[in-house]
Amino acid sequence: MPRGFGGGGRHQEHDPAELARINKLRSSRQRFRYFQAQWRKPRSSQNDAAESPASAGRSHWRRGLEWLRPLRRGIILVFVLGFFYTLLDAGWPILIGWMINVVEGAGDQVPILGETSARHMLTVIGLVALATVIASRAIGLLRGVILHQLSLRVAHHIRSSLYDKLIHLPLARLNELKSGGIVARLSSDVDHTANLLQQAVVSPLSAIMRLLVVVSILLFYSWQLTVISLGLLIVLALIHHRAVGRIRPIYRSSSRDRAFIDGRVAETFGGIRVVRSFVRETRERLDYGLGHHTVLRKQIWARLLLNLYHSFWDLLLPGVHLTIIWVGGLYVLDGSLTIGAIVTIQVLSFQVMTPVMQIIQAMNETQRGMAALDRVSEVLDMEEELPDRSSAQEAPRQVTELALRGLAFRYPQRRTHRDDVTHNPMGEPHQEPEQHDQWVLRDISLTIPGGTVTALVGASGAGKSTLVDLITRMMDPQEGCIMLNGMDIRDLRLRSYRSLLGVVSQEIFLFDGTVRDNISYGNRDASDAAVEQAARQANAWEFIGALPDGLDTFIGERGVKMSGGQRQRIAIARAILADPAILILDEATSNLDSENEQLIQESLSHLMLHRTTIVVAHRLATIRNADQIVVLAQGAIAAMGTHQELLQQGPGHPYYDMVQRQELLS
Ligand SMILES: Nc1ncnc2c1ncn2[C@@H]1O[C@H](COP(=O)(O)OP(=O)(O)OP(=O)(O)O)[C@@H](O)[C@H]1O
Ligand SMILES: [Mg+2]
Repeated sequence: MPRGFGGGGRHQEHDPAELARINKLRSSRQRFRYFQAQWRKPRSSQNDAAESPASAGRSHWRRGLEWLRPLRRGIILVFVLGFFYTLLDAGWPILIGWMINVVEGAGDQVPILGETSARHMLTVIGLVALATVIASRAIGLLRGVILHQLSLRVAHHIRSSLYDKLIHLPLARLNELKSGGIVARLSSDVDHTANLLQQAVVSPLSAIMRLLVVVSILLFYSWQLTVISLGLLIVLALIHHRAVGRIRPIYRSSSRDRAFIDGRVAETFGGIRVVRSFVRETRERLDYGLGHHTVLRKQIWARLLLNLYHSFWDLLLPGVHLTIIWVGGLYVLDGSLTIGAIVTIQVLSFQVMTPVMQIIQAMNETQRGMAALDRVSEVLDMEEELPDRSSAQEAPRQVTELALRGLAFRYPQRRTHRDDVTHNPMGEPHQEPEQHDQWVLRDISLTIPGGTVTALVGASGAGKSTLVDLITRMMDPQEGCIMLNGMDIRDLRLRSYRSLLGVVSQEIFLFDGTVRDNISYGNRDASDAAVEQAARQANAWEFIGALPDGLDTFIGERGVKMSGGQRQRIAIARAILADPAILILDEATSNLDSENEQLIQESLSHLMLHRTTIVVAHRLATIRNADQIVVLAQGAIAAMGTHQELLQQGPGHPYYDMVQRQELLS
């Protein structure tokens, strides 16, 4: 991640060149000026991929409708309630107009009530108006609650399907998304997408309905006043739209900056040892201050613009009131309108404002929602990890032979930006054909008889862990195949094949939980005795016993820290407890001292008796007794055989030299 923050406009997350430019600016004033210059550019020229609604294609709409289909009853109910709400809400200003006319002695202008006393009339109309207001608010409340529930249910549905997709994505895709991207998609992107229901569907349609009802009533009273007040309100609304469009990017940019700063803070304190040992405290503090100061400038500026805009608004609103009374007063003097009608028009004019604002807001929010939908859809459209063929079978329970036949593998080239997923004019995401780096493994052919131990040795970067990943089917090779008992593992159901495996990988991962949770991760129903047995075999029981709560001690973030060797032993216990047919240990004992390693070696040798084992190791002690040793060099098999056979090759051969070096050392 580029070090530095607190600059940049809308490009910040996407354009490394831009980031580099910002990072060169070493004062908050320069960074702020740079941001202002970006902000002043006309909107159309700002290449804001994250917000472009055009990139969201028609397939998105189809997907959206699918999500909404199960909720259609609720949505219809929302519209029906909205209709009644609108009618009632437009009703009470009319009643108030009538009340004024009654008071003012123009009771004959009020229909339906006929010749009753003014007092009586006032009471009756007042009560009806009160009831109307209460009823409209009650309906509005109910509608709001239902709408909120619908939106939460949509969010829940999207979130579940997204999670389901994510957990099955290939590792390479997940690496591209990064953990931050995954969390962002599951949280805020899903929320924004679910909000589309309200912002793109319900809100505009209700607003249009309301606008039609209120404007018709207004027109019935006086078309001249309607035109005047509507004209003024539309001007107001446009100003609002423009102001929001200009000010929001500043707030957005400052909150993006803050998120960046927060991420950097987490990184700094996570790597505090590196920071301290390289004496980078001052640099980090300066960067932090610089970032925050730029945010400060942006916020002050945004606030200033906001205040200006509010003053303008404050000026125009009384203007609308004044105009209606002024012009309306003239009509009253002419006798063509009543005072009550003026009041009604006054109130209704402001009721028009709400739907106009709603439509404008919907336009703004819909853009954001569509961008989020775009990101959610991008994931949902990804291919899942190595899908099972339709003819796939269950894996056999017994391993008689694992054979690698002419394997060749290279990693797909990293795509650094999501922008690399380009969009054609129809808006369908289309992926560039994947490019590849150099071959990491070439022409690997090897037979591992069931129940034997195979050791993989080779220099760092030779491809040992990659080969392990192919055997565990984290990835598939581009060429060649892996056969289990004569069947291509791609013809086996992935789940059933993986359940044969117990893997201790080079990078140990322990979950935030108790020791027991971690050991029994692959077998939740294991009894305490079984967990203890596995821990003993992994030579971990002794130190677990010394922990404050034994097996129930919390480890990780919430609990005690483990040493590298302790972590490895817990991981070994986890693999042992799973009782796999194929045990794979990738540098599983590399962090142990020789005594501990020997102890584990002994207990592992019992375990290895009945299973097919593949060990990646550097130390002679671990590999010497293997049934076969495979020497990898630069992605190819350099030699293969037992310890004795390989030694007989003599000096100049990689295995012999490796053994020599180790014996010299000891
Ligand atoms: N995810 C990846 N994407 C691209 N290249 C990778 C990836 N993982 C490993 N490589 C490359 O593949 C080669 C083999 O890596 P691998 O991890 O298999 O080596 P190794 O033999 O396990 O080394 P070590 O003994 O250090 O663990 C290396 O050149 C490495 O840079
Ligand atoms: Mg490795």
